Amino acid sequence: MGKVLQEYLTNFRDKVKDCIKTRKQILVTTHIDCDGITSGSIITNALIRAGAKCTVRTTNEFSSNLVQKLRSEEKDFHIITDLGGGFGKEINDNLGDNWFVLDHHEIPEEEHDIENVINAWKFGIDGGKEICAGGMAYLAGLSLDKKNRDLSAVAVVSAIGDRQDQGEKKAFIGKNLEILETAKNLGLVEVDLDLLLVGRETRPLPDSLAFTSQPFIQGLTWNRDTCLSLLNSSGIKLKEGSRWRVLADLSQDEKRNILESISKYATGKDATEIMSEFIGYTYTFPREDRHSFLRDAREFSTLLNSCGRIGKSGIGIAICMGDRNKMLRDGEKVLVEYRKKIRDYMNVLTNERWRINNAEDYVLVNAEGLVPETMTGTISSLIAGSPKNSGKIVFLRTDSAEGKIKFSSRKSVGCRSDVNLSSLMKNGAAQFDGIGGGHDAAAGAKITKDKLDEFLDYIEENVSKMQSQNKSE
Ligand code: C5P
Repeated sequence: MGKVLQEYLTNFRDKVKDCIKTRKQILVTTHIDCDGITSGSIITNALIRAGAKCTVRTTNEFSSNLVQKLRSEEKDFHIITDLGGGFGKEINDNLGDNWFVLDHHEIPEEEHDIENVINAWKFGIDGGKEICAGGMAYLAGLSLDKKNRDLSAVAVVSAIGDRQDQGEKKAFIGKNLEILETAKNLGLVEVDLDLLLVGRETRPLPDSLAFTSQPFIQGLTWNRDTCLSLLNSSGIKLKEGSRWRVLADLSQDEKRNILESISKYATGKDATEIMSEFIGYTYTFPREDRHSFLRDAREFSTLLNSCGRIGKSGIGIAICMGDRNKMLRDGEKVLVEYRKKIRDYMNVLTNERWRINNAEDYVLVNAEGLVPETMTGTISSLIAGSPKNSGKIVFLRTDSAEGKIKFSSRKSVGCRSDVNLSSLMKNGAAQFDGIGGGHDAAAGAKITKDKLDEFLDYIEENVSKMQSQNKSE
């Protein structure tokens, strides 16, 4: 039976208020991705406002080792965000009653009964589409003080970062929609149905068009020169003095003009559908500077992701907490560095063909010795976004510390497989003494190196088996 979220939040509020009253030290532990950085920042901000003594830290993953580390910390109370699924009992055994998990990853049934786990799924909320850790942290923050409504804007970034804009035309749904409405009513965010290209506030138009890969337009995507000449011949003014114009500078007429020019490249029976993907909801923060990385929620989430992936999540947290000075400039440098790394890894993966093994239903990518563990998700998502892998599942692996192998799996666009990647990774890893989990379309796992061959066999067997079952139905 579904639990009542409000009761859990009231319990959260009471325990946290008690910590504040008794001057207990609170440690917030969160994940390094956009949702981790935003959720950690939201709850830390709410705690500081409430007068709590607290510290925030990020980690790449949750593990038994980390539980032991938390236990040995000189902290009185722990709030874990965007992490900890499946570890409820272990945390309970080690931290007593002095903790909460705020999360949205699917959890095992037995964890539904642990009071300190405040996870979307146990309240009948779809943690894959309707709320993420940022949203859960926001609700927890709101339980402390209604004034924390302004943190809804950061929760909007978290939903975007976790690709939860999964409604019609990239709308928000469920709890995310409620949170978005709050941010809108406070004048913190504006939502428009508009032309969707990447880098809305910051990228020169030709780059914006060339780097938009969803939808993928043969001849244009990843082809900056062609994009530049398309824009030139459509008569759009590309520069304002020496500054390149960006999508956000354009008038509606100019955007229509671009769309019409693109449509000449989208041919075939799916052309209308492809073109319709260029229109969707944008989420703009009007209080952020024009042409800043923080004005468009999608760019904001990319910036935060790059901070975490490159090992500088503190910069992302400072930005979420409101720093618009040095930390923002540092964040911009991180983004440049992150993009360069992505380009380098993708180049190697394209050139060293032995690294890619293409099967009918899936692609296995060996990124050992190349992609660091923190960036496997970024690269597997990019590979899954390439049209040549459309319909397939991507499994990317790399080496991790202590003789382990990290896997990142992603369903590509158009993948109709009903293999649940979260179950696949979780069950598979469990068979080989590893740990896995995640969501239906994006999941990860870690195993020891000596189990690699068996794990690859397991993937092959289970993906193909389920796919062929689907085909014969
Ligand atoms: O690691 P990767 O980016 O591939 O993970 C995809 C998703 O699966 C992320 O949301 C991550 O938090 C989640 N995950 C998980 N448990 C794991 C590994 C990944 O919940 N053991």
